[in-house]
Parts: sequence; structure tokens; C-alpha cells
Amino acid sequence: MEKIGLNELRTLFLEFYRSKDHYVHESFSLIPHNDKSLLIINSGMAPLKPYFAGIETPPAPRMTTCQKCIRTGDIDNVGHTARHGTFFEMLGSFSFGDYFKEQSLKWGWEFITEVLKMPPEKLWATIFEDDDEAFEIWNKVIGMPADHIVRLGRDDNFWQIGIGPCGPCSEIYFDRGPAYGCGKPDCKPGCDCDRYVEFWNHVFSQFNADENNNYTPLEHKNIDTGLGLERLACIMQDTDSIFAIDTIRHILEGVVAVSGVAYEGGSSPSDVSIRIITDHIRSVTFMIGDGILPSNEGRGYVLRRLLRRAARHGKLLGIEGPFLADLSARVVEVSGDAYPEIRERQDYIHRILSIEEEKFSKTIDQGMAVLLADVEELKASGAKVLSGDKVFRLYDTFGFPIELTQEILSEQGFGVDEAGFQANMEKQKETARSARRSDMDEGWADEAALYADLPATEFLGYEQLEAEATVLAIFSGGGAVDSLEEGESGRVIFDRSPLYAEMGGQATDTGAVESDAFRGSVEAVSKVKEIFVHRVTALAGSLQKGDKVSLRVDLLRRNETARNHTATHILHAALRQVLGTHVEQAGSSVTGETLRFDFTHFEAISAEDLAKIEALVNEKISSFLPVHTDVMSIEEAHKTGAMSLFGEKYGATVRVVSVGDFSREFCGGTHLSNAGQIGAFKILSESSVAAGVRRIEAVTGLGVYRKLQADEALLKETADALKCHVDALGSRAKALSEEMRAAKKEVEELKKQNMASLSDDLGADTIEIKGVKLLRKRFDSAEYELADLRSLCDEIRAKQKATVIVFALESADKVSFLVSLTDDLQEKGYHAGKMIKEIAAAAGGGGGGKADMAQAGAKDPSKIEDAFKVAETLL
Ligand code: ALA
Repeated sequence: MEKIGLNELRTLFLEFYRSKDHYVHESFSLIPHNDKSLLIINSGMAPLKPYFAGIETPPAPRMTTCQKCIRTGDIDNVGHTARHGTFFEMLGSFSFGDYFKEQSLKWGWEFITEVLKMPPEKLWATIFEDDDEAFEIWNKVIGMPADHIVRLGRDDNFWQIGIGPCGPCSEIYFDRGPAYGCGKPDCKPGCDCDRYVEFWNHVFSQFNADENNNYTPLEHKNIDTGLGLERLACIMQDTDSIFAIDTIRHILEGVVAVSGVAYEGGSSPSDVSIRIITDHIRSVTFMIGDGILPSNEGRGYVLRRLLRRAARHGKLLGIEGPFLADLSARVVEVSGDAYPEIRERQDYIHRILSIEEEKFSKTIDQGMAVLLADVEELKASGAKVLSGDKVFRLYDTFGFPIELTQEILSEQGFGVDEAGFQANMEKQKETARSARRSDMDEGWADEAALYADLPATEFLGYEQLEAEATVLAIFSGGGAVDSLEEGESGRVIFDRSPLYAEMGGQATDTGAVESDAFRGSVEAVSKVKEIFVHRVTALAGSLQKGDKVSLRVDLLRRNETARNHTATHILHAALRQVLGTHVEQAGSSVTGETLRFDFTHFEAISAEDLAKIEALVNEKISSFLPVHTDVMSIEEAHKTGAMSLFGEKYGATVRVVSVGDFSREFCGGTHLSNAGQIGAFKILSESSVAAGVRRIEAVTGLGVYRKLQADEALLKETADALKCHVDALGSRAKALSEEMRAAKKEVEELKKQNMASLSDDLGADTIEIKGVKLLRKRFDSAEYELADLRSLCDEIRAKQKATVIVFALESADKVSFLVSLTDDLQEKGYHAGKMIKEIAAAAGGGGGGKADMAQAGAKDPSKIEDAFKVAETLL
């Protein structure tokens, strides 16, 4: 076979499929789009899943790509074998419901035998064990001898990664000859030895797998083939090592040049290190080229791990100082034509690599020394794993990813306590959370002094929502710092900013700060004298003093705030029109969620007036009144009749915001350009804040929508509870209240009857002591009220003579006593008020009252009988 370079192989493949009417699509980014199941693209079909699943329409029914891929599952093998790499390119041909099995295999055969001129006798195929159709195609249609077709099981010949399209597959193998084999008589594809190289997988993608491994047949059968470009290059260049093929060899030579260590292609530690660096520099160059930044999470962490592992192997080779940034140029040299993005972003990639290498180089030597001391300790103590605390210290203080520590330890026969490490990580996250809070709120006693030397911030946010700015200063933990590293938060001062700082009752803007090397969120902006202080959390990368960055306002929040602000002005004018010109603003608060307006007025606003005000504001909104802002001298402003805040000091020039001719106010806030943008206005409440000051709370725009949703939910809940349709709520409520009134009346009537019979029939509860009848009775508070008992007393007293009544009304945790006497007893000197004191005391209570009737409360219902006994004794 003729030797063919890797780049040329790529072109041959894509051109071959172009000639078969395939749409040639450039490689997709390594960052998956709309796919949370995947961290990094790992196969040619991964970015095409929506096309296979029929969720999106592909640009053409046939496609071909050469896709950048990264797989880190076998990272421990990388460097130690000739074939493993984290980065690889996958050539692919795809049919979305177009051609299927036979056509795919036929074209595959045509490409390798006619274009690449692989000898047919060296080619083998595996198929899924019961895929007779594939057998027939290989054997009858293509003419491959039956003994070159091997049936394998699910593990080998059913292709599936996680959820999504999957199906049986057929893999094409190249026989490199007996010299590479194990010599066993039954050696064939599927054998563990190196003789048969699997290089092209044709997947007959006809199912969709879900989380529970349910396989739903796809409406249209698809083809997904994947051919490892590096593997193919190995075959075509007659080598068994990916590190020997033309392009990768060029990068490897760069490692040899910078380290001055010769490469022997064997398994010596330096050969391993050279291969690791060679592979990893490819991955990291492409990752950064696609916009991934080193960080402690997700993709950024994968990048950091690879980078630091490569840096450490550089150390092992004796390389002094950073070298990866320069080495990335070699990747661009061999891959820049096929992937122009890495050429375009070459400087950027260099810079990000430099920053990260720089960062790690500051701590790697110290970290290594600590780790070696730890190893000595392990040896001395006979322990087998390094404690989680120590692994964490290496991570936290010296930037050693746990995997790196693990690798170094395993070289010496030790392991790490992973669980202990994770526990430390959790603890740190917790501390960071509370530290962030305190960084925001405490230890900043004299902020103004901190910023004393800084110039006033230029505010651009009236016209711009995005702007370039320079970092003038960074403060964290109460003092000035040079940089903000990812995960940290602090206060950042820029020379200019489009973000509005909280002032004049308008809430702060939020937004983002970004540069090539940094991504952060701005959570709030406050104004200290003339300086805008941005509270920034670093999400990825590092922010340095002097950096040029772009600042972006969170548009949705800004719009919501502007709606509420412009609406506040209209409300102010509407209040004056409906209630009178005595209405003056007394305070206001405008956020993305609500608006609150306080104003002078001496009484509650009637429902009628409130409705008028709300309608007037909505009318102005629907009139699409234009909003203008003008900067003018204060005299001029007063002449226009603009309203200013009572007691507020203004400078020589002021900003006047007008809404049509309806409202004109001094204001520094950010507004809409037309009242119509408010959409709608709804008052939530009207209340009193202080003597002569009322408050209106209202919502606009999306807030009205949210209020509607909440009301709707409430209506639905009520209708469900009343078991009727929402539309019938009114009549249902009326009917229910009628029913209730009738039922109450009935209950009253029954009670009355009950009482009457009670008063006639008291014999069982009465005893006689010295000619006086003592009536004692307990009542349950679930059935009776004190008022009932009182009227019962009255009735008894009207009918009886020489009677003392003691009633106890009991509930679970308390009891009320009622004592009453007939008139004849009062004349004899009996006194209900005096008696009840002692009676109630027996149940832990007290009370008193008049001679004829007295009432008391007590805490202990279990003592009622004791209280009754006291009554007996008294008599
Ligand atoms: N998607 C198939 C693979 O990655 C082609 O092997």
C-alpha cells in the first residue's frame, strides 16, 4: 500500500463521500450543544443525535464529517501504550433515514479497497451474532469469504453510548500479519492480541435507548459510521503506534526538542512521559480553541487535569519552566489547515496555556516535595493510602488534581483516600459559601477610603448595554488584591461601565464580565461617591488588574426594572391627576420584580379612585407615549415644570425624564423609550406607611403575567375545594353562604331546645347540702360556648330557689368555670364572685365577679372534680 499522510487521508475520505452526495460538514465544537448527558464530544455522531432521533432536521439526509473527539476514560493507559490517546479524530458517514446497511457497507468497502487500495485478503469484518442480513451483504454482495466474517455478541457488536440512537454494528478489521499475532490457531478479530486492528465501525442505528434501556425502533433507520483517523493512519503508514504517524510524530519531536531527552519508542519512564505530553497537548490545544477555560469543574476541570498532568511529566523529563504554551504551535502546524479555529485563536491558546502553566509552576515543586515527604511517611508507617486531608492539601494549596496525586502515588505502590478527599471538598465548598457572604457584607468598614485614589467611573448604561472596560482595581477580603481567581468573589472597579448602580430607588443591574481568559458574573453594583463598585464572582479563569474586559448588562432584568421605573413616573402623575396636586413623592423602590411608591396623602384611597388611577396608568401605556430624557440646566428644568424631589440637592445640570406630556421628572434612572413597552400595570396593594404617607405596590410587564398566573392558581385551588368550575365560583359561593346561614340558624334553634330541656332536668347532677341545692355539671367546649352556659344559668335561676350552680366548660388544655346563685341565696349573703375564687384555684386558675354570677379560667381540666369538691365544702 502507498503511504498516505493523516491530513491527506482525511481529505480522501471526505471527498469520497462528497462524491456520493454527502454534505460535508466541518467538525462540530468539542462542547456539546443542548446535550446535558455529555461533557465533551466523544464521537462523530454525538453532535448529530437530534438528527438521528428526528428532533431536528439535518441540513441534508447524507452527511460526512471529521469530528474532533476527546475520551478520557482510558487516560491511565495513555502514554503507556502505543494506541491510547485522549484526543482523536473520527471520520464519519451518516444517513438520516436515507440509505441503510447494504449501501453503507458497499461504500465502505469501495473506499478502503479502491481509494486506499487495501488488499481485500487482509480485511475482515465482525457482525452482531444474529445479523444474518449483514452476513449476506458481506459475503454475497461484497464477496468477503465467509471465514473472514466473525459473529460477536452484544458487548462487541451492539453500539450504544448512554441514551439515544443505537443499534447493531459491523466493524472492519485490518490484518497486520502473523508477526503481530499471538500465534494461536484460532486467532481472529476479537482476539486480544495486536494482529487484527479494528478501524471502522458501521452502526445500523435503528433504535432509540432511554434511561431504562428501553429500545424503541426509530421510524427511519440511520447509518452512523466511525473511522478512527489515527488508527487508519497507522495502517496506511505501516506502524503500530499512533505516536509514529506523521502528524503526531511532529508534535512528539517538539517534546523531544524542548526536553533534550531522546525518544526510543519503548516503555521507559521518559518514553511514557513524552507520549503523555504529546497526547495531552493535542487535547488541551483543541479544548481551549473551542473556548473551554481551565477551572475546577466540568470540562474546565478535564482541561486542567490534562494540563497539569502534562506539566508534571515535563518536570519528570527535566524541562525547566513553562513549555506547553510553545508546544501548542506544533499542534497548530499539523492540524491548523483542517481546523482553522486553532490557527485563528493560536495567540489566545498560547496565552491561556501560559497563565495556567504559570499558576501551576509556582506550586508544583513545593507540592512535589510535600508529596514525597508524605510518601516517606507512608513507607515508614506501613500505611497503604494517603489520607484525604493530605490529598486535599495537595489539591487546595498546591493545585494537584486528585488524579495527579493518585498517579504519582500509584507509581510508588500507594493509593489515596478518595472518600476522605471528597469530604474535605464538601467542607471547603461550605466554607466558601459562607466566606462569600461575608466578603460581600462584612469587613469593609471604610469602603470610601479604599477607593480614595480611584477616578470616577464613567457610566455608559443610558445608551449602551455592553462595553469594553479596563480593570482598575480589585478588592477581596476587605483589601486590595491583584487578581480574582475562579471561585473567588470580590469587588471590582472599572474605568467605565454600562451597569447601573443601585441609587435613587432603582435597584442594581446585574450582568457579566468576560475576557478571553475570564468569565465572571456581576451580582450587584453599588455607588461609593463617584465610583461604581461591581461585586463579581469569578466563574472560570482569572481576572487581573489591568485586564481589558467586556461588561454586559443582564437585559431581561434591566428591562423589567425599566418597566417598573417608567411606570412609577406615570403612576406619580396619575395620582396627582386623580387625588390632587398635594401628592408628592415620599420615597420609591424599583426592582425587577415590583415597584413601590410612597407619597403624601391623608387618607386611604377609595376603591373607586384606585381603579381610576390604575385605569389611567394603563391608558397612558396603551397610548404609546414616547419617553424622552434631556440633560439641561437646573433653571431650564424648573421652567419645564418638571417635578423634583422635595429636599433633594441637585447639581447645575440635571436629567429630566418625560413620558409624553403626561409626566416630567428629574431622574437619573434607566427608562424605556416608549410607555407602551410597559405592557400592563396592576396595583397589588394600597396601605399606610406613616401619618400622611400612603404606599402603592404594583407590578408591570411580566410581573402582571406572574400575578395573573398566581391568581389563576388560587382560583383553581378554590374551585377544586368547592368542587365546582371556576366560572361557577360566584354562584357557588353565594349558595354556600346561604346554606351556611340556614344551617347556623338551625343549630341555634336546636341548642335552645337542648338548653330548655337541660334546665328542666338537672336532678342527676344536683345534691343537697344543708337545704341548699348544689348543681355541678361539665360541658364540652366543642358543643357549648360560655354564652350558652350563661343563658342556661339565667333560665335555672328564673325557675329555681336556694340553688348554687357550678358549671365547668372544658377543652383539652383549659377549663372555664361559671358560678351563679339564685336571688334568695344572695339575700342570705352567698356571693358567687367569692366562691369562684376558691373553686377555680383548685384547678390552677383564678377569677371573680359579682354576687349573682362569676366567671373564671383555669389551666388544668383534670382537676374539675377537685373544684366541684371545693364547692361542696364551701356550702
Ligand atoms: N458512533 C460509532 C462509534 O463511535 C460509529 O464507534
